Amino acid sequence: MPPVGAGSLVTAVVSVRSVTKRYPGVAAVDGVWLDIEDGQFVTLLGPSGCGKTTLLRLIAGFETPDEGQVYFGTNDVTHVPPHERDVHTVFQQYALFPHLSVADNVAFGLRRGRVRRPAGEVARRVRESLELVRLTGYGDRMPAQLSGGQQQRVAIARAVAPGPRILLLDEPLGALDRKLREAMQIELKQLQRQLGISFVFVTHDQDEALAMSDVVVVMKEGKIEQKGEPSEIYEHPRTRFIAEFVGVTNVIVGDVESIDAGLASVRTPAGIVPVSAAANGGPALSMGDRVSVAVRPEKIRFAEARAAGAIACRVEDARYLGDVTHWRVRLLDGSTWTVFAQNDGTPEPLEPGAEVGLVWESNHAVRLES
Ligand SMILES: Nc1ncnc2c1ncn2[C@@H]1O[C@H](COP(=O)(O)OP(=O)(O)OP(=O)(O)O)[C@@H](O)[C@H]1O
Ligand SMILES: [Mg+2]
Repeated sequence: MPPVGAGSLVTAVVSVRSVTKRYPGVAAVDGVWLDIEDGQFVTLLGPSGCGKTTLLRLIAGFETPDEGQVYFGTNDVTHVPPHERDVHTVFQQYALFPHLSVADNVAFGLRRGRVRRPAGEVARRVRESLELVRLTGYGDRMPAQLSGGQQQRVAIARAVAPGPRILLLDEPLGALDRKLREAMQIELKQLQRQLGISFVFVTHDQDEALAMSDVVVVMKEGKIEQKGEPSEIYEHPRTRFIAEFVGVTNVIVGDVESIDAGLASVRTPAGIVPVSAAANGGPALSMGDRVSVAVRPEKIRFAEARAAGAIACRVEDARYLGDVTHWRVRLLDGSTWTVFAQNDGTPEPLEPGAEVGLVWESNHAVRLES
């Protein structure tokens, strides 16, 4: 099998090569290949326990792999300790020293490692880092005198002060409330662009991953399931796991009944669903193949119940959310689907129990590999 996360070795700042890390009873990271390009914002996304933190700790050097190597550029750093790697980490718990001022907390990051810096340079870098995170003038405060968001900014200033090539962030916004979290997402993204360095960001929040990243890496049980741009992950999920973990999706299983002009007709218990027969990453479809097809809720439109090509269903209920309405409908095979309808003035006069048809463009029916 080709390594899912592997990219171009020429420009990778970090290259994780066939890395496995085992703990008693679990392979926390299991044969992972991952290349991180210079200046990329890469997000590791996946459910709790899938190995995100372990992978980050392997890159940082807090863990040593049981198998495989970690490269920084062309250097094998597999056995190089964390403070000698060109990388800094921001954790969910800001881990500021409560007895040190903000400025001294930031300066702390400059005093570790091999480089001895003159006092003037330390002061300059502290000043510049605090300016970057918009905390100019806060240097003399103690951490207890700051809000949660400000404390997290100090932690980020401390991590960027030494000028690392790579910044690792493990759920750094997890402790913040939603408003502040969204504001910090924008700030972090701006900071990354401004610094031009690579960020490896861990989250289990799919919206956060889609909104912030150049590249999203979806993990499951220690393995990389898919690596791609946010729109690629959302529009072309490789597996049912990804389709359901990233966003809401509707899945139906059926058998290929006929193929015509590159379009396969899939017979399902709820009706005939057209799908592209082309390879689409996996093998091209042929007659009799069993396939799983995914359709996103916002790609579906309502039609007459017996309209040609429509999948018949019955309305169960509606959640009116102001800008959109989320409709729940039941197909003939008994499965429930979700349809998002924009409240753009077009009336959707659907009462519970009403029979309607569902239609979508065939290119929005995505074939899943598993
Ligand atoms: N030090 C450890 N000793 C034993 N098992 C560990 C250790 N660290 C992690 N694990 C196990 O390895 C697996 C992956 O853990 P990891 O912390 O990497 O997951 P995660 O994706 O970061 O999850 P979360 O979203 O909950 O932070 C889990 O099954 C976990 O219990
Ligand atoms: Mg974790």
